[in-house]
Amino acid sequence: MIEKIAQFGKSDSGINREAFSDADDQAREYIIGLMRETGLVVRIDEIGNIIGRLDSDIDCPAVVTGSHLDTVPGGGKYDGVIGILGGLAAIKSLKDRKLTHPLELVIFAAEESSRFAFATMGSKAMAGKANLHAWRKAKDEHQVTFAQVLELRNLNIESIPKAARSKDEIKAFVELHIEQGSSLVSQGVSIGIVDVIAAPTRLKITVEGMANHSGTTPMEDRRDALVSAAMIILSIQEIGLEQSASGTVATVGALKVHPGAMNVIPGLVEMWVDIRGVNHTSVIECLQDIKDAVSTVADGQDTAVSIEMLSSEKPIVMDPMLIDVIESSCRAKGITYMKINSGAGHDAMNISYIAPSGMIFVPSQNGISHHYDEYAAVEDISTGIDVLTETLYQLAK
Ligand code: GLV
Ligand code: MN
Ligand code: MN
Repeated sequence: MIEKIAQFGKSDSGINREAFSDADDQAREYIIGLMRETGLVVRIDEIGNIIGRLDSDIDCPAVVTGSHLDTVPGGGKYDGVIGILGGLAAIKSLKDRKLTHPLELVIFAAEESSRFAFATMGSKAMAGKANLHAWRKAKDEHQVTFAQVLELRNLNIESIPKAARSKDEIKAFVELHIEQGSSLVSQGVSIGIVDVIAAPTRLKITVEGMANHSGTTPMEDRRDALVSAAMIILSIQEIGLEQSASGTVATVGALKVHPGAMNVIPGLVEMWVDIRGVNHTSVIECLQDIKDAVSTVADGQDTAVSIEMLSSEKPIVMDPMLIDVIESSCRAKGITYMKINSGAGHDAMNISYIAPSGMIFVPSQNGISHHYDEYAAVEDISTGIDVLTETLYQLAK
């Protein structure tokens, strides 16, 4: 099934299944089919989250699992996908057990921030944290707005608040995911139980210089926006390195150079910065140092720089009760485990605002993710599914 899903959006350079793309839509249809075959009653909420419920006549808060199907451009086969297929497998094997709480599988819409620069939009909407004011302005790189994309899928941006669920609808949320780092492999441990998730802080930095002829403008008369941007990137790397002792990382992952011609001095550069950390004080220090470095470059190079904060979220601590349940599930099955922090963002961050939430990580070979070489062994995923199944059972019995 992992291979089948990988066909949706497959290219030579990885999987391109960005949120609300045709490939995403096809993968969603495939999963909806599997959910129905498993006996789940499926509905789609106002932002496009797919919610499949087993035993939908039980009037009790649901025990929920799930993840996302969308990928970054050139992504891998496992990020998100194993939480969906693993959730489905777990629910399938619990079908005939006697349970007090209904089980639910959720496929969250638009988890990756790569299309609209907003992360985990589906779970934010479900947690009542949709920021419509900002989302109305969201556009992808082809200038297609988020609202237009929703319309193509028969959804309406103004209805998104109706996707919010209340605290008494969900008893607990557990997400199975690949680690996307190398700690489990390097320590030879089968399962990571997530302690803290490093929620992202994102900035857009715009550098304004002066476009001019690259052949005639003397070196000393230039106001080259890309040269300033390069200095800013190096400063961000240095600041990230300084903060890395506290587990913080900082990345410039996207850059647009205008007008973007070989024979024109760059007049304008837009760059996107992603800061992550589990220590909020360190993230704030990192942010402040970046702002200081940016103004030093702006003044020194006579290139105006503006900073737009795209998001600033606090690290999220997973629920101690759920950590205990996952831990005892590992112990009951004789599976090795360790507590672990997540550098990547996940839908569990948002669902934790409305329900106790926890995450189960399985090893990612070589710690590679957001890349086509991302790999998790079927045996490791199966171990994760065993722990997920036992955890869901303990929560729903
Ligand atoms: C989600 O994949 C993220 O960017 O952390
Ligand atoms: Mn991802
Ligand atoms: Mn993911």
